[in-house]
Amino acid sequence: MARKPFVGGNWKMNLHQAEAAQLAAALVQQIAADTSVDVAICPAFPYLASVGELLCDAASPIMLGAQDFYFQPNGAYTGEVSLSMLKDVGVKVVLVGHSERRHVIGESDALINEKVLAALEAGLHVILCVGEKLEQREAGKTDAINAGQIALGLAGVKTAQMKQITIAYEPVWAIGTGKTATPADAQSAHQGIRKQLTALYDASVAGSVRIQYGGSVKASNAKELFSQADIDGGLIGGAALKTDEFMAIIKAAR
Ligand code: PGA
Repeated sequence: MARKPFVGGNWKMNLHQAEAAQLAAALVQQIAADTSVDVAICPAFPYLASVGELLCDAASPIMLGAQDFYFQPNGAYTGEVSLSMLKDVGVKVVLVGHSERRHVIGESDALINEKVLAALEAGLHVILCVGEKLEQREAGKTDAINAGQIALGLAGVKTAQMKQITIAYEPVWAIGTGKTATPADAQSAHQGIRKQLTALYDASVAGSVRIQYGGSVKASNAKELFSQADIDGGLIGGAALKTDEFMAIIKAAR
């Protein structure tokens, strides 16, 4: 089944106002009205509104994404940002379960599930990130870890809501390290994820959910990764901070 490629740029805690605006403007210009690949960019919180305005003013097909949020609608949650606040500034896509939030910040599968459910309820598109650590890969547990994170992350998500879900397979050992999974290893993990989606939902859902690969994707390895049968684009960190690199990755997904 043909799935439209989807490439996300996760800017993480990088780029200040002027750089964020410059990168967003360059992408707007180069992508223009091309919708052959779905593209999302996820700036840091302080710049969501200004980048969102820039995308909106240009009527760009690039979607504004947020790296995080809290699942409660409002109230006494000092430091947190709600989904309605994100929607206010034009956010369409949210990342949930990124390995840096799981393993650096300490988010649990239960919190990740609350976030997935809240974002779906708010009508946003969710990129649910999963992936194994190095010792888990070495112990042959890659598929089991992905399956567990998917089952817990998607608990309570209805079949009809799966249209709003993208999975990002990001092996923890490959993120920001320059080490990339081989196309064959990534394909095998993606196939395992699709099998898990078939078990949790059905073959039609599994065949239509996009699964991005993330972990040191660059212009030089994107084409080979994206040519794998079950890899439908990528979630890009470091290489999303440079216009040329990111554009080359988007082109590789076309
Ligand atoms: P990276 O990050 O491309 O820098 O490895 C990917 C991600 O964390 O989404």
